[in-house]
Amino acid sequence: MCDLIQKYNIPGPRYTSYPTVPYWNMETFSGKKWQSTLVQSFRESNSAEGISLYIHLPFCEQMCTFCGCHKRITKRHDVEVPYIRSVLKEWKLYCDLFSERPIIKELHLGGGTPTFFSPQNLKLLIEGILRRSKRSASSEFSFEGHPNNTTREHLQVLYDLGFRRVSFGIQDYNPKIQQAIHRVQPFENVKNVTEWAREIGYTSVGHDIIFGLPHQTLAHIEQTIIMTNALRPDRLAFYSYAHVPWLKGNGQRGYKDKDLPSPEDKRKQYETGKRLLHNAGYYEIGMDHFALSTDNLYTAEASQSLHRNFMGYTASKTQLMFGLGVSSISDSWYSFAQNVKSIEEYNHLVDNGIIPIYRGHILTREDQTVRRHILNLMCTFETSWEVADLYFSGLPQVLERLQEMEQDGLLEIHSEQIKVTDKGRPFIRNICMAFDILLHNNVPETRLFSMTV
Ligand SMILES: C[S@@+](CC[C@H](N)C(=O)[O-])C[C@H]1O[C@@H](n2cnc3c(N)ncnc32)[C@H](O)[C@@H]1O
Ligand code: SF4
Repeated sequence: MCDLIQKYNIPGPRYTSYPTVPYWNMETFSGKKWQSTLVQSFRESNSAEGISLYIHLPFCEQMCTFCGCHKRITKRHDVEVPYIRSVLKEWKLYCDLFSERPIIKELHLGGGTPTFFSPQNLKLLIEGILRRSKRSASSEFSFEGHPNNTTREHLQVLYDLGFRRVSFGIQDYNPKIQQAIHRVQPFENVKNVTEWAREIGYTSVGHDIIFGLPHQTLAHIEQTIIMTNALRPDRLAFYSYAHVPWLKGNGQRGYKDKDLPSPEDKRKQYETGKRLLHNAGYYEIGMDHFALSTDNLYTAEASQSLHRNFMGYTASKTQLMFGLGVSSISDSWYSFAQNVKSIEEYNHLVDNGIIPIYRGHILTREDQTVRRHILNLMCTFETSWEVADLYFSGLPQVLERLQEMEQDGLLEIHSEQIKVTDKGRPFIRNICMAFDILLHNNVPETRLFSMTV
């Protein structure tokens, strides 16, 4: 395994989209084209399956120094209402494009820290969104809560609005690691919020933990998983720490590179975590998730209906996803568009009736085909081109690139299908990279992506 890690530990995308953001073609993109694909996608899918909505709530009171998310650090809570007003204006700009009301199948509040906002302001936001849309019979509403500031009232108010799933950021329970990542968070807080959520009636409580953090060892992983298991979350994100200090606005500077575990140690942390979680009755889902068999992420994987989008893995597949709020990305399946990142610019644009996107990509036919293969691989660890429209002209080169991985035992290539082996699962990002034609045609000269292991 060590040799494989040395060989395959290279910078690579996490494939929440294909093409990945650095490869979007701005020359063929325009706001007009984006809107027309949006209207087409809406017509094709709204009444059949509904739409997904992601709302980015960017504020946090304190900067965690490991965090790669787009956020604004502030202790001033008078930012809440103006931001919510802007998000509702943005939603109106979209709704005005359609002749019928969007049917929301999935709604997720992410951040930053959604629970930075008061329960009353979150209510204002959700009621404002629902005023212009309907929810589907099987809608799933979820949010990310910070264990240090989620109150029982947050959980109750959002439950009353239809939220049934919540995930809490944990990362690691060790005090030294918590200090290094500037996120001191006692177990007691996590226990409280998890128990409150259960008492109120949430059906899925998730915890996010991370391996590969500064100073983290196998013993820390074991201890964190023992403590996690004591609270039995329904699902777990077990993320690989993404070290991307060159990204603007992220604070990954509170420790040195030498404080991070080596790639081999990081891999051992993942293997140990996976073994302990299996022993505790959790099933591995896709790339970095685990779930109990009672959680719908497990049912989705078992019934081959697992999907992956900018929110990560989901059991609710829709063709169309709107991303509201700063930095959010929308996906009409035929195109992507990303919102501006500055709050001031965002407010200014929506105040002037302008959909606040600043870049995007119109998918070619080939992009759409490659995208389906990458989605298949990320969700089911296999893909095939038996169906004619899954064949594309670059496929022979992709298969050539995969040959060495086949020799290394990471996958099996059949006449019209490839299957990832158990040994190959940890290298799924590398396998997807073989399909990434744009990356191969234009290898980046500077660091764009975190390491694959
Ligand atoms: C927006 S945060 C969660 C909500 C809330 N802000 C909190 O911190 O509890 C989403 C999750 O992304 C993950 N995350 C953030 N930065 C990461 C990084 N550099 N590498 C891996 N995971 C990361 C963390 O597990 C975090 O809990
Ligand atoms: S981990 Fe959560 S609370 Fe910490 S900076 Fe990132 S988004 Fe904010």
